[in-house]
Amino acid sequence: MKTTIIALVALVALASPAFADERGIDDFPEGKGREETANLCAACHSGRLVSQQGMSRAQWDETLDVMTERHKMPKLEGDERTLILDYLAAAFPPKTRRGAPNPFLK
Ligand code: HEC
Repeated sequence: MKTTIIALVALVALASPAFADERGIDDFPEGKGREETANLCAACHSGRLVSQQGMSRAQWDETLDVMTERHKMPKLEGDERTLILDYLAAAFPPKTRRGAPNPFLK
């Protein structure tokens, strides 16, 4: 009986999308720096908060500073900053909801 309950709980956990993508990083596209970015950014909030955004490299750069200044993220510098910034800019570029380029974000 106990085993059945454990098996059922495991099944429900596996079937539930909330558990399947606990960190909200399933929609992070493959690419160099994906793991590093996901591990850092999804430590404090859902990865979805990141993947919902579409920003230029300069805007992502600013976001990193905001995370450090306002939210106490460890300051990113050097190669690590470049890696994560390159990933963010390539993975989540400026876009409209439908994925078309936004003409106002030139
Ligand atoms: C030390 C904790 C921490 C880390 C690490 C962190 N953030 Fe945040 N971030 C926050 C908090 C707190 C908020 C605002 C509250 C919320 O909505 O959860 C936030 C909000 C955001 C927002 C929403 C816009 C805004 O200004 O509120 C974006 C975009 C964002 N973070 C991007 C990132 C990215 C990209 C990374 C990885 C490079 C990252 N964050 C890492 C704490 C963090």
